[in-house]
Amino acid sequence: MADKTVKIGLVGFGTVGSGVAKILLEDSDYIKAKTGIKLELTRIVDVDTKKERPVKLPAGLLTNDLNGLINDKDIQIGIELVGGTKIAKDVQLKMLASGKDVITANKALLAEHGSELYTAAHKADKCIAFEASCAGGIPIISAIRTGLAANKIKAIYGIVNGTCNYILTNMTSKNESFRTALKQAQDKGYAEADPTLDISGGDSAHKLAILSSISFGCEILPQDIYVEGIENTDIADIRYGGEMGYTLKLLAIGQKTSEGKIFLRVHPSFISSDSALARVDGPFNAVSIFGHAVGQTMFYGRGAGMMPTASAIVADIIEVAMGNSKKLFKHLTLEPRSNTNCFVSKIDELESRFYIRLRVSDKPGVFAQICTILARHEISLSGVLQHEEHNTNNVVPAIVITHKTRQEKITAALADFEKLEIVKSKPVCIRIVDIPQDSD
Ligand code: NDP
Ligand code: HSE
Repeated sequence: MADKTVKIGLVGFGTVGSGVAKILLEDSDYIKAKTGIKLELTRIVDVDTKKERPVKLPAGLLTNDLNGLINDKDIQIGIELVGGTKIAKDVQLKMLASGKDVITANKALLAEHGSELYTAAHKADKCIAFEASCAGGIPIISAIRTGLAANKIKAIYGIVNGTCNYILTNMTSKNESFRTALKQAQDKGYAEADPTLDISGGDSAHKLAILSSISFGCEILPQDIYVEGIENTDIADIRYGGEMGYTLKLLAIGQKTSEGKIFLRVHPSFISSDSALARVDGPFNAVSIFGHAVGQTMFYGRGAGMMPTASAIVADIIEVAMGNSKKLFKHLTLEPRSNTNCFVSKIDELESRFYIRLRVSDKPGVFAQICTILARHEISLSGVLQHEEHNTNNVVPAIVITHKTRQEKITAALADFEKLEIVKSKPVCIRIVDIPQDSD
């Protein structure tokens, strides 16, 4: 078969866009030798054509003329790497309407408007490929859609935000402050343009919405997901948790019960320091998927940054150019939830173990009061930790670990703790997540 050339237009020449341009300009012969397809980057559009970028471009490639790219009929694949949900959506719709397949890393847009965009793509007989939207360089979308296609997916446990994992790792192992670690993650190109999306858990929720939609086969929206971020993480809790054998991670969790109930949540989680996910450090991501046939799988790699994300975009370019993405995309129909028996559960129904830290007066009867409240809400204690401390102005930390109990009972107990005269500030409560171990 003769080699073919595929022309590509790129909108958004920032961190990821620069990585994509670098691969396409430097490695297109290598890719052609592997795939028989010559990838030709013919236009790059960005609002700022003067800014210093990490990639040197041939003259005339970079413009600020979006319409020129959209109206160029020779361009078969349009890549949107602008980010955000307004301009980016318009760009993608215009690309589809002008007969281009679309590739994007924009998880916020797909999580919020995926159904609308997929419908527009189906109508235009084009496809949208989005491998780079979840877990950076890890081919997790492809794994779920093809490699694990035989499986009914039962659960997803993921560290899917490189920025948060970088911050928590540096707080844990280098004793760094939250702000210092965040600044470094921004400098390294891991964070979103607005890093609030990362640290609030919103970015992880966008990724979980995409991963759980394609895993469970129905439309999942960000508002279906319970979200807590890491912005209030106190290094003291990382230390106390560590003493008890736990590591703090921001986890994105999707679980489907045999009755079709779906639990979706993103929150800081203590996990056993012996677990594989606990050893995922820095900007790395990992996603563990449980399928009914395969059992537990684990996918690991860099979750953010210029080149890992560009790797996923270029993988999509090749899949689209070969015609594979379009075949698969035809079957990407996310059933509106009203048409399915998918039922998204409320966080109150969650059963979990909990870590609670209270700052309490250092005087007789304190633990008795704590235990009275726990007993009133039928919460069973499984461990306590209190160090002998000096020069504390008579206020000391008291930590309790509970057995498995319902979230609503813990919420009620926390409210009661706050009313106690001996409790000096808002209690800290972190869920302990016991990731199932699939072993013989
Ligand atoms: P950047 O902010 O680095 O890049 C976006 C680029 O688009 C900037 O150069 C920006 O210019 C430009 N831009 C803004 N508005 C327009 C417009 N109207 N027309 C053309 N260009 C425009 O973002 P990233 O490269 O980091 O991210 C791009 C996408 O990839 C986002 O959706 C992000 O969520 C996603 N992503 C990012 C990852 C990462 O590690 N960075 C990993 C995975 C996904 P200016 O700077 O002047 O505003
Ligand atoms: N800001 C995101 C992260 C980029 O830190 O994971 C990758 O999606």
